[in-house]
Amino acid sequence: MSSIKHYQELQGSDSSEVRVSAPVYAAEDLFKGAVPRASFLNIDFTVSSISSTGLTLSVPEGLCVTEIRTAQTLELKQGGETFFECKVVIAGGTPDKTELRVLFDERGIDINQIARKNSMALARAKAKSKKPTITYKVPMEYKVYCTEVLDYIADQRQFIESHIAPYEDGLSEVETHELCGQLEESSKAGWSDIWFRGNDLVLPFIDDAKAKQDLKTFTERLVTRELVGGRNWHRSYFKPMGYPGDFQIMNYMYDHRPEGTSIYSRYLHILGLISGRPIVSRMEYISEALDRLNDQEDKSDLYHVMSIGSGPAREVQRFLETTYQSGEGYSFTLVDQEKQALDYAITTAYRSLTPSQSNVIVSGMHTSFTEMLRPMSTFRHIPQQHLIYSAGLLDYLNPALSRRLCAKLYDYLRPGGTLLIGNVNDAANGTYWPMEFILDWTLYFRNREQMLDMSAGCKGADVEIDMDESGAVYMLKVTKPA
Ligand SMILES: C[S@@+](CC[C@H](N)C(=O)[O-])C[C@H]1O[C@@H](n2cnc3c(N)ncnc32)[C@H](O)[C@@H]1O
Repeated sequence: MSSIKHYQELQGSDSSEVRVSAPVYAAEDLFKGAVPRASFLNIDFTVSSISSTGLTLSVPEGLCVTEIRTAQTLELKQGGETFFECKVVIAGGTPDKTELRVLFDERGIDINQIARKNSMALARAKAKSKKPTITYKVPMEYKVYCTEVLDYIADQRQFIESHIAPYEDGLSEVETHELCGQLEESSKAGWSDIWFRGNDLVLPFIDDAKAKQDLKTFTERLVTRELVGGRNWHRSYFKPMGYPGDFQIMNYMYDHRPEGTSIYSRYLHILGLISGRPIVSRMEYISEALDRLNDQEDKSDLYHVMSIGSGPAREVQRFLETTYQSGEGYSFTLVDQEKQALDYAITTAYRSLTPSQSNVIVSGMHTSFTEMLRPMSTFRHIPQQHLIYSAGLLDYLNPALSRRLCAKLYDYLRPGGTLLIGNVNDAANGTYWPMEFILDWTLYFRNREQMLDMSAGCKGADVEIDMDESGAVYMLKVTKPA
């Protein structure tokens, strides 16, 4: 992956668009970081995006491009070679004049063909230059560390190849399961130690974008490449839904099954499950908060609970299966922009109930949390809530948006109600190295101060910061005075 991106910039982060036109690709993504230059009207431009109908060009500073009505030739160049030529017309510029939009004069331009031609030109330029293409700098200590990570994995791979793979096809399901249990047992401590060392090496660069990018590039080229042989690493890195943290990834962690097509791929998946343990302990923390709802002095016949970015809502399922008996009622409102996640969450929650447990309602709101921030939001009719929580969503939001959302959620609480926000932290035993560096899963790994900052707009609240059992997730607890 070429550059660090926040969730809101990723394709698939917002599924609420109604009008759909030809997909537009960031040039960085389509050309995999090797963006060609565009030569047009004898000016050299950077291509910023491309679609099958045209291109957006970044206008060099201080330059003013006048509108020309007739079609002009535009050339795309890589390594000084023109590899594509076509006629374009100017469609206009952005109001700040920093970008110029040009449309292909001909219809049916195949942008994949342009990408292919760009690659060919790149290969020709590389062959000609005979220079190494590595341009990033990584401390030697980190290079040695990544080699040790690979060596750690190779040790188990060698064992599997020599002693297990030859008999793998004959293993029964029970034997496979037992074997995977042993692989997990033998790796838990070692793999955790090794990834915590990764945190020690990269945490000093948390605010240094360039150094971080170089460390990421190196990690992805070496470590990610090996680990994506495991299903959970593969899905988390390649993000088939267009964004990280989709409900299937979450379910891999919650189901904790050694998935894979070979023992080695299952082993890699198991390493992912070990690193993903904080996802599970965060869910358990919230499930226990649900257990405690009826311990409060202020009893209720019906507890209103809302989850923002609910995903599969496994904490609801866990609560209903393990603790809930009957008596008081619960009304769960699950908010998620992903319809499949809501379908899954609602179905599994209801399946956890016995026929006599009829005073539980689980409903979904298929919308973005941003809907809550609108003045005439559809949420204005919901009853005041006893508990509102969000786990694994505010980690994607910048400080200003997090503060705004927390203040709005706080408004929706009834007196005495609690807002609970789970957010990954910057602890040495946290998930910073595997998520950001192996998986290109960019989040705000918040410290205590940054957690507290999220509650800045919650007037009069009692604010606390707690931690999940893994120590990798902070829980911000904001209680409204009764
Ligand atoms: C990392 S997952 C966490 C899911 C769940 N809370 C858990 O801990 O298992 C983030 C969830 O937020 C949802 N989400 C992402 N952007 C959203 C948005 N703008 N509004 C509502 N939900 C969103 C995703 O679909 C996904 O289910």
